[in-house]
Amino acid sequence: MYTPLASRYDDPHFYRRCGRSGIRLPLISLGLWHNFGGNDSYANARAIALRAFDLGVTHFDLANNYGPPDGSAELTFGRILREDLGPWRDELIISTKAGYYMWPGPYGEWGSRKYILASLDQSLKRMGLPYVDIFYHHRPDPDTPLEESMGALAHAVRSGKALYAGLSNYPAAETLRAARMLREMGTPCLIHQPRYSMLDRWVEPELLPALAAEGIGGIVFSPLAKGLLTDRYFQGVPADSRAGHDPRFLRPEHITEALLATTGRLHELARQRGQSLAQMALAWVLRQPAVTSALIGASKVSQLEDCVGATRNLAFSATELSHIEAILAG
Ligand SMILES: NC(=O)c1ccc[n+]([C@@H]2O[C@H](COP(=O)([O-])OP(=O)(O)OC[C@H]3O[C@@H](n4cnc5c(N)ncnc54)[C@H](OP(=O)(O)O)[C@@H]3O)[C@@H](O)[C@H]2O)c1
Repeated sequence: MYTPLASRYDDPHFYRRCGRSGIRLPLISLGLWHNFGGNDSYANARAIALRAFDLGVTHFDLANNYGPPDGSAELTFGRILREDLGPWRDELIISTKAGYYMWPGPYGEWGSRKYILASLDQSLKRMGLPYVDIFYHHRPDPDTPLEESMGALAHAVRSGKALYAGLSNYPAAETLRAARMLREMGTPCLIHQPRYSMLDRWVEPELLPALAAEGIGGIVFSPLAKGLLTDRYFQGVPADSRAGHDPRFLRPEHITEALLATTGRLHELARQRGQSLAQMALAWVLRQPAVTSALIGASKVSQLEDCVGATRNLAFSATELSHIEAILAG
């Protein structure tokens, strides 16, 4: 029988308001893209999820296609809810998404109303839930009218199958158009989920200012650049690392000498701050006021604990920030 730690909400500074909404999210949220699939160890997945909740991580992020196989992360999380976390459902923010390929034929991906609403029903079934807290459109669809995709999100909220609507991977201009539509439909956009890290800063010029202006929260994914902004690859490519065993999105050839030189220098600076490189990388994305939460992945409980520990030191001096800029500029 799992009983959560009574201390899990002891640190009130661990939560940040999501845009101009009533929701506060943990500074560190847990994503189930990797390590929660049907081919992964259930015991390890369960241990990571429960340790997260014990540390005050109230937000778990999923998508229809997380696995592999597709859908299996939702099945895993459904089991964790059924066997452990279910009694605490009202303390959890659970999100899922639709946008990427899920089933064959013309209605199994992108942004039609048909696909988005069918996918949400499938996700709810896999997790054994009557509703999710946040339902995202996972990526913009160049061929479907934005009105149709946003109408589907609004319908999901009005039907009670989602509490809030979210956007992911939308550029700034489309975000602003989508946000206006959602607001007019009475189901405002709560949150945007873009990729952001020291190694990928596309959100800085336009998207983050747009989110701040619109009062939309930002939850940034892959803040550790899938593990590159950690000490994971300093001694080669470990067999149990993402690059070592799951070549879908990160391959050993991505870990170049130049990259290791950069991350080595960042690691030095992190040490001087009394942090791990992962912790400094998380503090760095959280320095942006428009960023509500850093959405991490973890393959081990110890990684999750290290990441949550980032919040012990979120402040940067001007000198540290310019040092980081200089390192990133090479
Ligand atoms: N909306 C979208 O399109 C989209 C796309 C991608 C991801 N996401 C979301 O973002 C979440 C996070 O993505 P991500 O997994 O790429 O994020 P990430 O946090 O950048 O990378 C996670 C990986 O970094 C390593 N790691 C984590 N903490 C560590 C630590 N303290 N020390 C050393 N290594 C550490 C682990 O690698 P090893 O596995 O090698 O141990 C872990 O699997 C996903 O689960 C998903 O919810 C969304």
